[in-house]
Amino acid sequence: MNKEVISLLIRGGHIIDPSQGIDQVGDLLIAEGKIVQVGGTVISSKAQNLDATGLIVCPSFIDLHCHLREPGFEDKETIATGTKAAAIGGFTTVCCMANTNPPLDSPSAVARVKRKASKDSLVAVLPIGCITKGRKGEELTDMAGLAEAGVVAFSDDGDPVASSQLMRRALEYSRDLGLPIIDHCEDKALSDNGIINEGQMSAKLGLKGIPAAAEEVMVARDLILAKLTKARLHIAHVSTKGSVELIRRARKEGIPVTAEVTPHHLTLTEERIAGESPNKPFDTNAKVNPPLRTKEDVQVLIKGLKDGTIAAIATDHAPHTLADKNCGLELAAFGISGFETALGCLMSLVHQGEISLTQLISKLTCEPAKVIGRNDELGTLKTGAPANITILDPDREWIVNSRNFASKGKNTPYDGYQFKGKVMATIANGRIVYVDDSLLSLALSPEGRRHK
Ligand code: DOR
Repeated sequence: MNKEVISLLIRGGHIIDPSQGIDQVGDLLIAEGKIVQVGGTVISSKAQNLDATGLIVCPSFIDLHCHLREPGFEDKETIATGTKAAAIGGFTTVCCMANTNPPLDSPSAVARVKRKASKDSLVAVLPIGCITKGRKGEELTDMAGLAEAGVVAFSDDGDPVASSQLMRRALEYSRDLGLPIIDHCEDKALSDNGIINEGQMSAKLGLKGIPAAAEEVMVARDLILAKLTKARLHIAHVSTKGSVELIRRARKEGIPVTAEVTPHHLTLTEERIAGESPNKPFDTNAKVNPPLRTKEDVQVLIKGLKDGTIAAIATDHAPHTLADKNCGLELAAFGISGFETALGCLMSLVHQGEISLTQLISKLTCEPAKVIGRNDELGTLKTGAPANITILDPDREWIVNSRNFASKGKNTPYDGYQFKGKVMATIANGRIVYVDDSLLSLALSPEGRRHK
């Protein structure tokens, strides 16, 4: 793996850059960490060659929502392991959630994460600051101080802001600071320590359910507050049909709201909670908050993605230890380790004809870049932009084996799944931060030939 900034000529790939409407076979030249030329045929004697014939070359992915766990939960993940997993997944920008210990509720806590990331990470880590002190929902943080420390958004993710008055004030401050609030929508009185989606499955299995209304009640409240305050609201991990409908209506009305959906809510349903044998009646790796919902919800989420109601796909990468998951369903932690399976499972939607590859790429690149106001430099292959590039093979088949994850979190409901579509290389600021072994040996040879 070459971690140095290099001149690199990526030859003959299928370049897809939704930010500029580029969809063509051609060369891409990068030098000194920047994109120099996109498309056409490049003759360069100096640059190292990479033959991308048959591969997709696109802007690298941006994750608006992940949990890197550091500081405080280094047994689950560290910035080093989490960002390595991100690079394997094709991501070079990750926005990390504030539910660490201590939480990211002060400028010094944010500065510490940034310092650690600058040492340990090969990809960009953009911290998200807490809305309330200690994420307790009682008192606002010094949001201006957090903005100055460099947070890209505010969120108490993992927990909602229960008080409408506090949320109103948070929205007012975030509006004045020009940053979005990433909203974990959950009415805790309604979710009431539920475990899985409330519906047929919870009734059949005798498990306490989390109704769709627990999410939708708060989506509705916060859309009303966004209208009142004219603040930018971004709804995290949308999981229900009703939420999509509320957001669609609000956007039509001109309320400044965006939304994200996770790969697991787009590809799995509540049935996935069932285990493989009577000895293992439930799969705790499918326990996530919000819970996996119904087929109808999944269909409406995909429709919302296609019609622009949902701007972005975000992993909600939530790594946990084996002990956190190797227990009864009631006790198991909520969350899915998502970086390393994101593209593989999302490509199933492309192969099934649910969304186009270009749409999928836009939801992972320019669209999330817009949410954090970084679309000038991120999620694009514009000449002069930092060379953040992902190369993927849409047809490469592979089997998920969580034991091989770079993430400490082996908690995936996709273990053993066969996926078609794989990240082959990830370039961050002109550095190759991940390359698949097969591409390394075949494509990055001195003469740059790839033998199929
Ligand atoms: O499943 C989840 N896990 N949902 C959240 O909102 C938080 C996350 C975590 O931090 O583990």
